[in-house]
Amino acid sequence: MNEINIIPKPTNMIIGEGSFKITEQTVIESDSKLREVAKYFKDLLLPATGFNLVITDPKTDSTKSNIIYLKLNGKLDVLSEEGYSLRINQERIVISAPKAIGIFYGIQTIRQLLPIEVEEVEKRKNIEWIIPSIEIKDYPRFPWRGYMLDEGRHFLGKEAVKHILNLMALFKMNVFHWHLTEDQGWRIEIKKYPLLTEVGSKRAKTQIGGFLSKKMDTTPHEGYYTQEEIKEIISYADKLFIKIIPEIDIPGHSKAALAAYPKFSCTGGPFQVSTTFGIKKDVFCVGKEITFEFLNNALDEIVRLFPSNIIHIGGDEVPKKRWKKCSDCQERIKRENLQNEKELQKYFTNRIKKYLSSHGRRIMGWNQILNDKSSNEIIAQKWLFGKKIIKNHLINGGNVVFSQFGNIYLDYSYKRTSLSKAYYYEPVPKKLHQDYHNNILGIEAPMWTEWVRNVRELDWQTFPRLIAIAESNWTPKEQKNYKSFTNRLDYLLKRLDILGVNYAQKQEYQPTFIKKLFGFLTIFKEPKRSSLYIKNAK
Ligand code: ACM
Ligand code: ZN
Repeated sequence: MNEINIIPKPTNMIIGEGSFKITEQTVIESDSKLREVAKYFKDLLLPATGFNLVITDPKTDSTKSNIIYLKLNGKLDVLSEEGYSLRINQERIVISAPKAIGIFYGIQTIRQLLPIEVEEVEKRKNIEWIIPSIEIKDYPRFPWRGYMLDEGRHFLGKEAVKHILNLMALFKMNVFHWHLTEDQGWRIEIKKYPLLTEVGSKRAKTQIGGFLSKKMDTTPHEGYYTQEEIKEIISYADKLFIKIIPEIDIPGHSKAALAAYPKFSCTGGPFQVSTTFGIKKDVFCVGKEITFEFLNNALDEIVRLFPSNIIHIGGDEVPKKRWKKCSDCQERIKRENLQNEKELQKYFTNRIKKYLSSHGRRIMGWNQILNDKSSNEIIAQKWLFGKKIIKNHLINGGNVVFSQFGNIYLDYSYKRTSLSKAYYYEPVPKKLHQDYHNNILGIEAPMWTEWVRNVRELDWQTFPRLIAIAESNWTPKEQKNYKSFTNRLDYLLKRLDILGVNYAQKQEYQPTFIKKLFGFLTIFKEPKRSSLYIKNAK
Protein backbone atom coordinates (compact mmCIF):
# COMPACT_ATOMS: atom_id res chain seq x y z
CA MET A 1 0.00 0.00 0.00
CA ASN A 2 1.24 3.50 -0.82
CA GLU A 3 1.87 5.76 2.10
CA ILE A 4 -0.24 8.86 2.48
CA ASN A 5 2.13 11.73 1.90
CA ILE A 6 0.12 14.61 0.51
CA ILE A 7 1.69 18.08 0.23
CA PRO A 8 0.17 20.51 1.01
CA LYS A 9 -1.37 18.59 3.89
CA PRO A 10 -5.16 18.49 3.46
CA THR A 11 -7.29 20.41 5.92
CA ASN A 12 -9.44 17.39 6.90
CA MET A 13 -8.58 13.79 6.20
CA ILE A 14 -9.90 10.44 7.44
CA ILE A 15 -8.06 7.36 6.31
CA GLY A 16 -10.29 4.38 5.50
CA GLU A 17 -9.83 0.68 4.82
CA GLY A 18 -8.93 -0.90 1.50
CA SER A 19 -8.32 0.86 -1.75
CA PHE A 20 -9.56 1.72 -5.24
CA LYS A 21 -7.74 0.30 -8.22
CA ILE A 22 -7.62 2.10 -11.56
CA THR A 23 -7.87 -0.39 -14.42
CA GLU A 24 -8.39 -0.19 -18.13
CA GLN A 25 -12.15 -0.46 -17.47
CA THR A 26 -12.36 2.44 -15.04
CA VAL A 27 -14.79 5.06 -16.31
CA ILE A 28 -14.56 8.79 -15.61
CA GLU A 29 -18.09 10.15 -15.21
CA SER A 30 -18.13 13.90 -15.45
CA ASP A 31 -20.62 16.74 -15.39
CA SER A 32 -20.67 18.43 -18.79
CA LYS A 33 -19.06 21.58 -17.38
CA LEU A 34 -16.10 19.56 -16.18
CA ARG A 35 -15.11 17.98 -19.47
CA GLU A 36 -11.86 19.87 -19.77
CA VAL A 37 -10.74 18.86 -16.27
CA ALA A 38 -11.84 15.28 -16.94
CA LYS A 39 -9.72 15.29 -20.07
CA TYR A 40 -6.77 16.68 -18.09
CA PHE A 41 -7.13 13.77 -15.63
CA LYS A 42 -7.36 11.19 -18.38
CA ASP A 43 -4.26 12.65 -20.11
CA LEU A 44 -2.39 12.64 -16.80
CA LEU A 45 -3.01 8.91 -16.36
CA LEU A 46 -2.50 7.83 -19.95
CA PRO A 47 1.30 7.75 -20.49
CA ALA A 48 2.34 5.65 -17.48
CA THR A 49 -0.76 3.44 -17.14
CA GLY A 50 -1.40 3.04 -20.85
CA PHE A 51 -5.15 3.23 -20.00
CA ASN A 52 -7.19 5.26 -22.43
CA LEU A 53 -10.04 5.86 -19.99
CA VAL A 54 -13.55 6.57 -21.23
CA ILE A 55 -15.20 9.83 -20.15
CA THR A 56 -19.01 9.79 -20.00
CA ASP A 57 -21.96 11.74 -18.64
CA PRO A 58 -22.94 10.79 -15.09
CA LYS A 59 -25.14 7.67 -15.02
CA THR A 60 -28.17 7.43 -12.79
CA ASP A 61 -27.28 3.83 -11.96
CA SER A 62 -25.37 4.51 -8.76
CA THR A 63 -24.66 0.86 -8.05
CA LYS A 64 -22.03 0.57 -10.75
CA SER A 65 -18.48 0.27 -9.55
CA ASN A 66 -15.05 1.16 -10.96
CA ILE A 67 -16.16 4.75 -11.47
CA ILE A 68 -14.38 8.05 -10.90
CA TYR A 69 -17.07 10.66 -10.64
CA LEU A 70 -16.35 14.38 -11.04
CA LYS A 71 -19.24 16.38 -9.76
CA LEU A 72 -20.07 20.08 -9.33
CA ASN A 73 -21.90 20.82 -6.12
CA GLY A 74 -22.72 24.45 -5.34
CA LYS A 75 -23.73 23.53 -1.78
CA LEU A 76 -20.10 22.79 -1.02
CA ASP A 77 -19.17 26.46 -1.18
CA VAL A 78 -18.52 26.24 2.56
CA LEU A 79 -15.23 24.75 1.37
CA SER A 80 -14.46 28.11 -0.29
CA GLU A 81 -14.24 28.72 -4.03
CA GLU A 82 -11.23 26.45 -4.40
CA GLY A 83 -12.11 23.63 -2.03
CA TYR A 84 -13.14 20.07 -2.83
CA SER A 85 -14.42 16.93 -1.23
CA LEU A 86 -12.85 13.60 -2.14
CA ARG A 87 -14.26 10.21 -1.22
CA ILE A 88 -12.40 7.08 -2.18
CA ASN A 89 -13.56 3.54 -1.45
CA GLN A 90 -13.18 0.18 -3.18
CA GLU A 91 -16.04 0.86 -5.60
CA ARG A 92 -15.64 4.45 -6.61
CA ILE A 93 -13.95 7.77 -6.31
CA VAL A 94 -16.09 10.89 -6.03
CA ILE A 95 -14.59 14.35 -6.29
CA SER A 96 -17.11 17.10 -5.73
CA ALA A 97 -16.53 20.81 -5.56
CA PRO A 98 -18.35 24.10 -6.06
CA LYS A 99 -16.06 25.00 -8.99
CA ALA A 100 -13.89 23.28 -11.59
CA ILE A 101 -10.75 24.48 -9.80
CA GLY A 102 -11.70 22.38 -6.74
CA ILE A 103 -12.10 19.31 -8.94
CA PHE A 104 -8.67 20.06 -10.39
CA TYR A 105 -7.17 20.17 -6.87
CA GLY A 106 -8.95 16.92 -6.01
CA ILE A 107 -7.21 15.39 -9.04
CA GLN A 108 -3.84 16.68 -7.80
CA THR A 109 -4.52 14.97 -4.47
CA ILE A 110 -5.35 11.69 -6.23
CA ARG A 111 -2.16 12.11 -8.24
CA GLN A 112 -0.15 12.29 -5.02
CA LEU A 113 -1.98 9.21 -3.67
CA LEU A 114 -1.08 7.14 -6.73
CA PRO A 115 2.28 5.32 -7.01
CA ILE A 116 4.98 7.80 -8.07
CA GLU A 117 5.47 5.89 -11.31
CA VAL A 118 2.30 7.59 -12.57
CA GLU A 119 4.64 10.49 -13.45
CA GLU A 120 6.58 8.39 -15.96
CA VAL A 121 6.20 9.24 -19.63
CA GLU A 122 6.48 5.63 -20.82
CA LYS A 123 3.99 2.88 -20.09
CA ARG A 124 4.83 0.94 -16.91
CA LYS A 125 3.89 -2.70 -16.67
CA ASN A 126 3.45 -4.64 -13.43
CA ILE A 127 2.32 -1.70 -11.37
CA GLU A 128 -0.99 -1.75 -9.55
CA TRP A 129 -2.56 1.69 -9.84
CA ILE A 130 -3.94 1.65 -6.34
CA ILE A 131 -5.31 4.60 -4.39
CA PRO A 132 -5.94 4.17 -0.64
CA SER A 133 -9.47 4.67 0.70
CA ILE A 134 -9.76 8.07 2.22
CA GLU A 135 -12.18 10.92 2.88
CA ILE A 136 -10.89 14.42 2.41
CA LYS A 137 -12.50 17.83 2.77
CA ASP A 138 -9.93 20.34 1.72
CA TYR A 139 -9.58 24.03 1.03
CA PRO A 140 -6.77 26.60 1.09
CA ARG A 141 -5.82 28.95 3.90
CA PHE A 142 -5.03 31.77 1.43
CA PRO A 143 -6.40 32.66 -2.01
CA TRP A 144 -3.01 33.89 -3.37
CA ARG A 145 -0.47 31.08 -3.53
CA GLY A 146 2.23 32.63 -5.62
CA TYR A 147 5.59 32.26 -7.29
CA MET A 148 7.44 35.11 -8.98
CA LEU A 149 9.90 34.51 -11.79
CA ASP A 150 12.32 37.26 -12.79
CA GLU A 151 13.12 36.86 -16.46
CA GLY A 152 14.59 40.36 -16.70
CA ARG A 153 17.95 39.30 -15.29
CA HIS A 154 17.98 36.03 -17.19
CA PHE A 155 15.63 35.05 -19.95
CA LEU A 156 14.83 31.38 -19.43
CA GLY A 157 12.20 30.81 -22.10
CA LYS A 158 8.79 29.25 -22.37
CA GLU A 159 9.77 25.64 -21.68
CA ALA A 160 11.19 26.74 -18.33
CA VAL A 161 7.99 28.63 -17.55
CA LYS A 162 5.79 25.64 -18.45
CA HIS A 163 8.00 23.38 -16.31
CA ILE A 164 7.43 25.67 -13.31
CA LEU A 165 3.69 26.00 -14.01
CA ASN A 166 3.35 22.20 -14.09
CA LEU A 167 5.02 21.91 -10.70
CA MET A 168 3.00 24.76 -9.22
CA ALA A 169 -0.18 22.89 -10.15
CA LEU A 170 1.03 19.77 -8.34
CA PHE A 171 1.27 21.83 -5.13
CA LYS A 172 -2.02 23.67 -5.66
CA MET A 173 -0.41 27.04 -6.30
CA ASN A 174 -2.42 29.49 -8.35
CA VAL A 175 -0.54 32.75 -9.08
CA PHE A 176 2.42 33.11 -11.43
CA HIS A 177 3.85 36.62 -11.10
CA TRP A 178 5.93 37.27 -14.19
CA HIS A 179 8.65 39.90 -13.70
CA LEU A 180 9.22 40.78 -17.35
CA THR A 181 11.31 43.96 -17.31
CA GLU A 182 14.52 44.95 -15.59
CA ASP A 183 17.65 47.08 -15.93
CA GLN A 184 19.24 44.01 -17.52
CA GLY A 185 16.52 43.18 -20.03
CA TRP A 186 13.06 43.95 -21.46
CA ARG A 187 11.41 40.61 -22.24
CA ILE A 188 8.05 41.29 -23.84
CA GLU A 189 7.20 42.45 -27.34
CA ILE A 190 5.45 45.83 -27.44
CA LYS A 191 4.36 46.44 -31.02
CA LYS A 192 4.26 50.23 -30.78
CA TYR A 193 7.82 50.43 -29.44
CA PRO A 194 9.91 47.79 -31.25
CA LEU A 195 13.21 49.06 -29.84
CA LEU A 196 12.19 47.83 -26.39
CA THR A 197 13.04 44.33 -27.56
CA GLU A 198 15.40 45.12 -30.49
CA VAL A 199 17.68 47.00 -28.11
CA GLY A 200 16.34 46.29 -24.64
CA SER A 201 16.32 42.48 -24.72
CA LYS A 202 20.07 42.16 -25.41
CA ARG A 203 23.16 42.73 -23.36
CA ALA A 204 26.78 42.26 -24.29
CA LYS A 205 27.99 40.54 -21.12
CA THR A 206 26.93 39.67 -17.57
CA GLN A 207 28.41 40.08 -14.12
CA ILE A 208 29.20 36.77 -12.40
CA GLY A 209 30.30 35.74 -8.92
CA GLY A 210 28.16 38.11 -6.83
CA PHE A 211 27.14 41.73 -6.38
CA LEU A 212 30.67 42.84 -5.41
CA SER A 213 32.44 40.84 -8.07
CA LYS A 214 34.25 42.44 -11.01
CA LYS A 215 34.12 39.22 -13.03
CA MET A 216 32.18 39.15 -16.28
CA ASP A 217 30.84 36.39 -18.45
CA THR A 218 31.45 37.80 -21.93
CA THR A 219 28.80 35.67 -23.64
CA PRO A 220 26.04 37.98 -24.95
CA HIS A 221 22.62 37.32 -23.41
CA GLU A 222 19.28 37.98 -25.08
CA GLY A 223 15.68 36.88 -25.36
CA TYR A 224 12.08 38.02 -25.22
CA TYR A 225 8.54 36.73 -25.61
CA THR A 226 6.48 37.62 -28.66
CA GLN A 227 2.86 38.47 -27.92
CA GLU A 228 1.85 35.18 -29.53
CA GLU A 229 4.09 33.27 -27.11
CA ILE A 230 2.67 35.21 -24.18
CA LYS A 231 -0.84 34.18 -25.25
CA GLU A 232 0.27 30.56 -25.54
CA ILE A 233 1.65 30.61 -21.97
CA ILE A 234 -1.44 32.34 -20.57
CA SER A 235 -3.59 29.66 -22.12
CA TYR A 236 -1.29 26.90 -20.80
CA ALA A 237 -1.49 28.35 -17.28
CA ASP A 238 -5.25 28.73 -17.56
CA LYS A 239 -5.65 24.97 -18.02
CA LEU A 240 -3.71 24.53 -14.77
CA PHE A 241 -5.92 27.11 -13.01
CA ILE A 242 -2.96 29.45 -12.59
CA LYS A 243 -3.43 33.20 -13.02
CA ILE A 244 -0.58 35.12 -14.60
CA ILE A 245 0.14 38.57 -13.18
CA PRO A 246 2.54 40.55 -15.40
CA GLU A 247 4.98 42.97 -13.85
CA ILE A 248 6.34 45.95 -15.75
CA ASP A 249 8.74 47.41 -13.19
CA ILE A 250 8.56 51.25 -13.32
CA PRO A 251 9.81 53.94 -12.80
CA GLY A 252 13.02 52.27 -11.51
CA HIS A 253 14.70 49.08 -12.73
CA SER A 254 14.10 50.41 -16.24
CA LYS A 255 17.53 50.85 -17.75
CA ALA A 256 16.86 48.38 -20.58
CA ALA A 257 13.82 50.44 -21.66
CA LEU A 258 15.85 53.64 -21.39
CA ALA A 259 18.66 52.15 -23.47
CA ALA A 260 16.02 51.74 -26.19
CA TYR A 261 14.28 55.11 -25.63
CA PRO A 262 16.64 57.46 -23.73
CA LYS A 263 14.34 60.45 -24.23
CA PHE A 264 12.12 59.15 -21.40
CA SER A 265 14.95 59.60 -18.88
CA CYS A 266 15.93 62.77 -17.02
CA THR A 267 19.36 63.18 -18.68
CA GLY A 268 18.56 61.94 -22.20
CA GLY A 269 21.20 59.21 -22.04
CA PRO A 270 22.71 57.46 -23.92
CA PHE A 271 22.43 54.23 -21.90
CA GLN A 272 23.25 50.60 -22.27
CA VAL A 273 21.28 47.63 -21.06
CA SER A 274 22.89 46.94 -17.66
CA THR A 275 25.50 44.23 -17.51
CA THR A 276 25.93 44.39 -13.73
CA PHE A 277 23.33 43.95 -10.97
CA GLY A 278 22.19 46.15 -8.09
CA ILE A 279 20.23 49.40 -8.03
CA LYS A 280 20.69 51.81 -10.98
CA LYS A 281 20.27 55.56 -10.65
CA ASP A 282 18.80 56.21 -14.12
CA VAL A 283 15.02 55.86 -13.96
CA PHE A 284 12.03 57.14 -15.94
CA CYS A 285 11.64 60.93 -15.88
CA VAL A 286 8.35 61.71 -14.16
CA GLY A 287 8.51 65.39 -15.13
CA LYS A 288 8.07 64.83 -18.84
CA GLU A 289 4.57 64.25 -20.19
CA ILE A 290 5.94 62.06 -23.00
CA THR A 291 6.98 59.48 -20.39
CA PHE A 292 3.33 58.98 -19.43
CA GLU A 293 2.23 58.76 -23.06
CA PHE A 294 4.83 56.07 -23.63
CA LEU A 295 3.95 54.10 -20.49
CA ASN A 296 0.23 54.35 -21.13
CA ASN A 297 0.69 53.05 -24.67
CA ALA A 298 2.89 50.19 -23.50
CA LEU A 299 0.42 49.35 -20.71
CA ASP A 300 -2.41 49.37 -23.27
CA GLU A 301 -0.76 46.42 -24.98
CA ILE A 302 -0.13 44.68 -21.66
CA VAL A 303 -3.76 45.11 -20.65
CA ARG A 304 -4.97 43.78 -24.01
CA LEU A 305 -2.71 40.76 -23.73
CA PHE A 306 -3.20 39.69 -20.11
CA PRO A 307 -6.71 38.85 -18.87
CA SER A 308 -5.54 39.38 -15.27
CA ASN A 309 -7.52 42.06 -13.47
CA ILE A 310 -4.31 42.93 -11.61
CA ILE A 311 -1.25 44.56 -13.19
CA HIS A 312 1.98 44.80 -11.17
CA ILE A 313 4.01 47.96 -11.75
CA GLY A 314 6.96 47.23 -9.48
CA GLY A 315 7.82 50.60 -7.94
CA ASP A 316 10.66 49.21 -5.82
CA GLU A 317 14.11 50.73 -5.37
CA VAL A 318 13.70 54.07 -7.13
CA PRO A 319 16.74 56.30 -6.51
CA LYS A 320 15.76 59.97 -6.48
CA LYS A 321 19.15 61.31 -7.55
CA ARG A 322 18.23 62.11 -11.17
CA TRP A 323 14.85 63.62 -10.26
CA LYS A 324 16.58 66.01 -7.83
CA LYS A 325 18.68 67.49 -10.64
CA CYS A 326 16.09 67.36 -13.45
CA SER A 327 14.35 70.64 -14.34
CA ASP A 328 11.29 68.77 -15.68
CA CYS A 329 10.93 66.74 -12.51
CA GLN A 330 11.44 69.79 -10.30
CA GLU A 331 8.87 71.75 -12.30
CA ARG A 332 6.38 68.92 -11.84
CA ILE A 333 7.03 68.98 -8.09
CA LYS A 334 6.28 72.71 -8.00
CA ARG A 335 3.26 72.58 -10.25
CA GLU A 336 1.66 69.72 -8.36
CA ASN A 337 2.49 71.21 -4.96
CA LEU A 338 4.51 68.17 -3.93
CA GLN A 339 6.87 68.25 -0.96
CA ASN A 340 9.76 66.31 -2.42
CA GLU A 341 10.91 63.53 -4.75
CA LYS A 342 9.29 60.87 -2.58
CA GLU A 343 5.97 62.55 -3.27
CA LEU A 344 6.86 62.61 -6.94
CA GLN A 345 6.86 58.81 -6.91
CA LYS A 346 3.48 58.92 -5.20
CA TYR A 347 2.24 61.20 -8.01
CA PHE A 348 3.61 58.72 -10.55
CA THR A 349 1.93 55.73 -8.88
CA ASN A 350 -1.36 57.61 -8.71
CA ARG A 351 -1.35 58.45 -12.40
CA ILE A 352 -0.57 54.88 -13.41
CA LYS A 353 -3.19 53.64 -10.95
CA LYS A 354 -5.85 55.88 -12.51
CA TYR A 355 -4.84 54.80 -15.98
CA LEU A 356 -5.07 51.10 -15.13
CA SER A 357 -8.30 51.71 -13.30
CA SER A 358 -9.81 53.31 -16.44
CA HIS A 359 -9.08 49.93 -18.10
CA GLY A 360 -10.77 48.04 -15.27
CA ARG A 361 -7.50 46.84 -13.75
CA ARG A 362 -6.16 47.02 -10.23
CA ILE A 363 -2.64 48.20 -9.54
CA MET A 364 -0.18 46.12 -7.56
CA GLY A 365 3.33 47.10 -6.49
CA TRP A 366 6.14 46.38 -4.05
CA ASN A 367 5.52 47.92 -0.64
CA GLN A 368 7.54 51.07 -1.47
CA ILE A 369 4.59 52.36 -3.50
CA LEU A 370 2.57 52.71 -0.30
CA ASN A 371 2.48 55.78 1.92
CA ASP A 372 0.39 56.91 4.86
CA LYS A 373 -2.56 57.86 2.70
CA SER A 374 -2.51 55.18 0.02
CA SER A 375 -5.74 54.15 -1.58
CA ASN A 376 -7.02 50.73 -0.56
CA GLU A 377 -7.38 49.87 -4.24
CA ILE A 378 -3.65 49.18 -4.27
CA ILE A 379 -2.42 45.64 -3.73
CA ALA A 380 0.90 45.87 -1.92
CA GLN A 381 3.58 43.23 -1.94
CA LYS A 382 5.52 43.33 1.32
CA TRP A 383 9.20 42.43 1.02
CA LEU A 384 11.25 44.90 3.07
CA PHE A 385 10.53 47.46 5.83
CA GLY A 386 7.19 49.28 5.93
CA LYS A 387 5.68 47.12 8.69
CA LYS A 388 3.52 49.92 10.06
CA ILE A 389 2.35 51.17 6.66
CA ILE A 390 1.46 47.61 5.67
CA LYS A 391 -0.56 47.12 8.85
CA ASN A 392 -2.41 50.38 8.25
CA HIS A 393 -3.09 49.38 4.68
CA LEU A 394 -4.67 46.14 5.88
CA ILE A 395 -6.74 48.01 8.47
CA ASN A 396 -7.91 50.44 5.77
CA GLY A 397 -9.18 47.54 3.69
CA GLY A 398 -6.19 47.27 1.35
CA ASN A 399 -4.85 43.89 0.25
CA VAL A 400 -1.33 42.62 0.85
CA VAL A 401 0.71 39.73 -0.53
CA PHE A 402 3.61 38.73 1.73
CA SER A 403 7.10 38.04 0.37
CA GLN A 404 9.45 38.86 3.24
CA PHE A 405 12.92 38.80 1.67
CA GLY A 406 14.86 37.13 4.51
CA ASN A 407 12.37 34.30 4.84
CA ILE A 408 11.28 33.34 1.37
CA TYR A 409 13.43 34.96 -1.34
CA LEU A 410 14.43 31.94 -3.38
CA ASP A 411 17.57 33.55 -4.81
CA TYR A 412 19.29 33.30 -1.43
CA SER A 413 21.53 30.39 -0.50
CA TYR A 414 20.06 27.66 1.69
CA LYS A 415 22.61 28.68 4.31
CA ARG A 416 20.92 32.07 4.45
CA THR A 417 17.36 30.80 4.03
CA SER A 418 17.08 27.14 4.90
CA LEU A 419 14.08 24.99 4.13
CA SER A 420 12.89 25.18 7.74
CA LYS A 421 13.16 28.98 7.75
CA ALA A 422 11.02 29.16 4.61
CA TYR A 423 8.56 26.67 6.15
CA TYR A 424 8.15 28.59 9.39
CA TYR A 425 7.43 31.91 7.67
CA GLU A 426 4.15 33.26 9.02
CA PRO A 427 2.75 36.21 7.09
CA VAL A 428 0.00 37.46 9.40
CA PRO A 429 1.42 40.45 11.35
CA LYS A 430 1.43 39.98 15.11
CA LYS A 431 -1.39 41.82 16.87
CA LEU A 432 -3.33 42.38 13.65
CA HIS A 433 -6.98 42.13 14.67
CA GLN A 434 -8.79 39.07 13.32
CA ASP A 435 -11.20 41.35 11.43
CA TYR A 436 -8.46 42.27 8.98
CA HIS A 437 -6.96 38.86 8.36
CA ASN A 438 -9.05 38.37 5.25
CA ASN A 439 -7.31 41.35 3.65
CA ILE A 440 -4.13 39.27 3.53
CA LEU A 441 -4.11 37.53 0.18
CA GLY A 442 -1.31 35.08 0.86
CA ILE A 443 2.37 34.31 0.40
CA GLU A 444 4.35 34.65 -2.80
CA ALA A 445 7.93 33.43 -3.20
CA PRO A 446 10.07 35.60 -5.48
CA MET A 447 12.73 33.95 -7.63
CA TRP A 448 15.23 36.63 -8.67
CA THR A 449 17.62 35.39 -11.29
CA GLU A 450 20.82 37.43 -11.11
CA TRP A 451 22.70 34.16 -10.55
CA VAL A 452 20.31 31.75 -12.27
CA ARG A 453 20.99 31.04 -15.93
CA ASN A 454 19.14 27.83 -16.75
CA VAL A 455 16.41 25.47 -15.56
CA ARG A 456 18.80 23.36 -13.49
CA GLU A 457 19.89 26.35 -11.44
CA LEU A 458 16.29 27.55 -11.27
CA ASP A 459 15.12 24.19 -9.90
CA TRP A 460 17.95 24.13 -7.39
CA GLN A 461 16.99 27.49 -5.88
CA THR A 462 13.24 26.89 -6.11
CA PHE A 463 12.86 23.34 -4.80
CA PRO A 464 12.19 22.19 -2.21
CA ARG A 465 11.65 25.67 -0.68
CA LEU A 466 8.64 26.41 -2.87
CA ILE A 467 6.97 23.20 -1.64
CA ALA A 468 7.29 24.48 1.95
CA ILE A 469 5.67 27.75 0.93
CA ALA A 470 2.90 25.88 -0.88
CA GLU A 471 2.06 24.12 2.40
CA SER A 472 2.09 27.42 4.35
CA ASN A 473 -0.33 28.88 1.84
CA TRP A 474 -2.73 25.97 2.01
CA THR A 475 -2.63 24.09 5.30
CA PRO A 476 -4.17 25.61 8.45
CA LYS A 477 -1.45 27.19 10.57
CA GLU A 478 -2.17 25.03 13.59
CA GLN A 479 -1.76 21.86 11.51
CA LYS A 480 1.66 22.74 10.16
CA ASN A 481 4.52 20.61 11.45
CA TYR A 482 8.03 20.67 10.01
CA LYS A 483 8.86 17.09 10.96
CA SER A 484 5.73 15.78 9.30
CA PHE A 485 6.43 18.01 6.30
CA THR A 486 9.97 16.69 5.76
CA ASN A 487 8.79 13.08 6.12
CA ARG A 488 6.24 13.65 3.38
CA LEU A 489 8.82 15.59 1.38
CA ASP A 490 11.27 12.66 1.30
CA TYR A 491 8.61 10.66 -0.49
CA LEU A 492 7.55 13.51 -2.76
CA LEU A 493 11.11 14.19 -3.91
CA LYS A 494 11.16 10.74 -5.50
CA ARG A 495 8.26 11.93 -7.61
CA LEU A 496 10.27 15.03 -8.56
CA ASP A 497 13.16 12.73 -9.58
CA ILE A 498 10.86 11.17 -12.17
CA LEU A 499 9.72 14.63 -13.26
CA GLY A 500 13.38 15.60 -13.83
CA VAL A 501 13.44 18.35 -11.21
CA ASN A 502 16.92 19.34 -10.10
CA TYR A 503 16.04 20.18 -6.49
CA ALA A 504 18.65 20.95 -3.82
CA GLN A 505 19.81 17.97 -1.78
CA LYS A 506 19.22 17.44 1.93
CA GLN A 507 22.71 18.40 3.12
CA GLU A 508 22.12 21.66 1.24
CA TYR A 509 18.55 22.52 2.22
CA GLN A 510 19.06 21.57 5.88
CA PRO A 511 22.43 23.19 6.62
CA THR A 512 24.21 22.63 9.92
CA PHE A 513 23.83 25.18 12.69
CA ILE A 514 27.33 26.56 12.02
CA LYS A 515 26.66 27.00 8.31
CA LYS A 516 23.40 28.81 9.08
CA LEU A 517 25.14 31.03 11.61
CA PHE A 518 27.40 32.44 8.90
CA GLY A 519 24.74 32.19 6.21
CA PHE A 520 24.15 35.94 6.05
CA LEU A 521 27.67 36.27 4.63
CA THR A 522 26.48 34.60 1.43
CA ILE A 523 24.03 37.33 0.42
CA PHE A 524 26.48 39.26 -1.76
CA LYS A 525 27.77 36.13 -3.45
CA GLU A 526 26.46 33.71 -6.00
CA PRO A 527 25.03 30.69 -4.16
CA LYS A 528 27.37 27.71 -4.41
CA ARG A 529 25.35 24.80 -5.70
CA SER A 530 26.52 21.33 -4.87
CA SER A 531 27.59 19.08 -7.71
CA LEU A 532 24.88 16.61 -6.73
CA TYR A 533 22.72 17.35 -9.71
CA ILE A 534 20.25 14.58 -10.32
CA LYS A 535 20.82 12.46 -13.37
CA ASN A 536 17.76 13.11 -15.48
CA ALA A 537 17.40 16.82 -14.69
CA LYS A 538 16.38 19.04 -17.56
C1 ACM B 1 12.86 43.71 -4.63
O1 ACM B 1 13.45 42.73 -4.14
N1 ACM B 1 13.56 44.70 -5.15
C2 ACM B 1 11.42 43.81 -4.67
ZN1 ZN C 1 13.13 64.11 -14.84
